[in-house]
Amino acid sequence: MGDQERGEVVLATQAEAGDPMTGEVRFEPGLYQGTAGYYDRFRLPYPGPMLADLTRRAALSGRGRLLDLACGTGQLAFPLCGLFAEVWAVDAEPGMTDVVRAKALATAADHLRAITASAEDLCVEPGSLELVVIGNAFHRLRREPVAERAHAWLRPGGCLALCWSTSPWTGPREWQRALAGMLRTWQNALGAAERVPPGWDQARRRLPDHEVLSRAGFEPAGRHEYPVEHRWTIAELAGHLRSTSFLPPSVLAGHAAEFDADLTAVLSRHTADGHLTETVSFAYELARKPALPITR
Ligand SMILES: C[S@@+](CC[C@H](N)C(=O)[O-])C[C@H]1O[C@@H](n2cnc3c(N)ncnc32)[C@H](O)[C@@H]1O
Repeated sequence: MGDQERGEVVLATQAEAGDPMTGEVRFEPGLYQGTAGYYDRFRLPYPGPMLADLTRRAALSGRGRLLDLACGTGQLAFPLCGLFAEVWAVDAEPGMTDVVRAKALATAADHLRAITASAEDLCVEPGSLELVVIGNAFHRLRREPVAERAHAWLRPGGCLALCWSTSPWTGPREWQRALAGMLRTWQNALGAAERVPPGWDQARRRLPDHEVLSRAGFEPAGRHEYPVEHRWTIAELAGHLRSTSFLPPSVLAGHAAEFDADLTAVLSRHTADGHLTETVSFAYELARKPALPITR
């Protein structure tokens, strides 16, 4: 990825034990507890043209099964669900799958199933999926076993798409740098710096995602980028920040009002028309399970 959540690295300061076999750093489970409502409301949707391009390249049949792994509140499952006979939206955090279930009910998406499970433990029948999507989450999973499992679950010719987007505090604009500095201060003050394990992306630099996918047996089908201009209000950013794993409501707790006042003080000097503008980089990396050779 273009290290979409690089800001979380910048904000981290304390060490956490990694996997001694692979050097991969493990994120604590439960980091998104209590964030689902904010996640659903304040995360930006993946751009329609990006999803249209993804589904075109994946050459969907319209009768297949989609797996949205580490689905959050269904940021990929819902926009894609019309193209599948069956959709599984899977997340380890029960608060996320509760929201997915409620949305599926509200939109009469009867073929969309919310499942609370970790990517590493989920059971799927081999060869039963047409597409697996993982949005802003592959770095949080045990990449190598998950890639191998996804490969086994897909039918020959099926695709895996890693979808990404950058975070507001990671960009080059003055307000984004001011925001990153302010978040670092708050994380340290609230003793929350260790929620993002430092060095989490070192293993990914050593062994990039596309290499993990290729070792699992996938053929690369390209990385495709979709930059989008977005205008935030400070209130929307306050909501967005509560949807993160590093400053969720449980961490802000009794300091929430003070945090919001500081956010307003830091950002209001950068607003134009009450807004802060950034270019969000959306992207997806596509990989395909090779089709079976034609036998004569
Ligand atoms: C940044 S959110 C991404 C949500 C959504 N896919 C998106 O594109 O916005 C990361 C999600 O991964 C989930 N998650 C983290 N580790 C997981 C695991 N091992 N198995 C399944 N879900 C996991 C979290 O609960 C959280 O909902």
